[in-house]
Amino acid sequence: MPAHAATAVSCANIAFIKYWGNTDEALRLPANASLSMNLAGVETETTVTFVDNLAADEVFIGGAAQSGTPYDRVVGNLDLIRERAGLRAFARVESKNNFPAGAGIASSASAFAALSVAGAAAAGLKLTEAELSALARRGSGSAARSVPGGFVEWGPGQPGQPDSSFGVSIAPPGYWDLVDVIAVISQKHKIVGSTGGHALAGTSPLQAARVGSVPDRLERCRAALLARDFDHFAEVVEADSNIMHAVMMTSAPPLFYWEPITLAIIKAVRRWRAEGLPVCYSIDAGPNVHCLCPGEHAAEVERRLRENLDANRLLVARPGGPARLLG
Ligand code: PMV
Repeated sequence: MPAHAATAVSCANIAFIKYWGNTDEALRLPANASLSMNLAGVETETTVTFVDNLAADEVFIGGAAQSGTPYDRVVGNLDLIRERAGLRAFARVESKNNFPAGAGIASSASAFAALSVAGAAAAGLKLTEAELSALARRGSGSAARSVPGGFVEWGPGQPGQPDSSFGVSIAPPGYWDLVDVIAVISQKHKIVGSTGGHALAGTSPLQAARVGSVPDRLERCRAALLARDFDHFAEVVEADSNIMHAVMMTSAPPLFYWEPITLAIIKAVRRWRAEGLPVCYSIDAGPNVHCLCPGEHAAEVERRLRENLDANRLLVARPGGPARLLG
């Protein structure tokens, strides 16, 4: 085996056009294409070491040994890597996030992107970016978008073909200085995570309408992004977030990810934009509000979030690069 250990770092990402629901749960083939931006500095660092005499895989996140579902999901990706590399050894996986645990920032995208890149390298595999992205997708769909850099589009692929659905960068991080000011809202009780949520998407009568209308929003979003046209970008990003949450709220059982402060921030952001401050919102499977704005307005957006709202914590991220190997 040419390499036994490798370390990789990957950014989280925020989707402008959301992924919600799968056509194939086992392969994690998404119901629709999506588009996102990597978040610089919101990162997971993961070391994978294949060790000849281990009796089983070992998984540590932030130093804590994992078991149950988080462990099984990591082992699932390691199995795919072992199968590809013709390897039998078990691995030790040590992963840490540089953002606060339990802050409700989705860590699965950065986690599975870093795990796939480090794991493949440690196993001596030479995979293309598309193959690494498709591998990361098997652990968490949105991780497919954290492998390439900057602004990334991820297509649904073809039925039954696991390697046909992967992320592709459509613009590098420096293309547009968009900033994500994340209002981190504490979540008192854990609700259904995204893997469980995807499985419920099809129970909403609105999911078909959402999926059917994605191509139009995706095209408008890509065009606005490539033209750096914030006004059109803001409109379509908010519309896409709203329709995903409409699906969530109308699935059986319904999923209500928002807290009262989430809606207060939504309303404030729309008021600020009407008053001339270019900012819009997007919300994932949690109560946090991602406030997106051109870089020159980030300080003002931060100031207003701090002064006007009881946002307990803010994280600020600019467009981030691809998942990368360290060393
Ligand atoms: O990759 P997952 O299974 O955590 O799903 C992500 C789902 C959303 O964050 C709500 C939307 C998205 O496209 O990132």
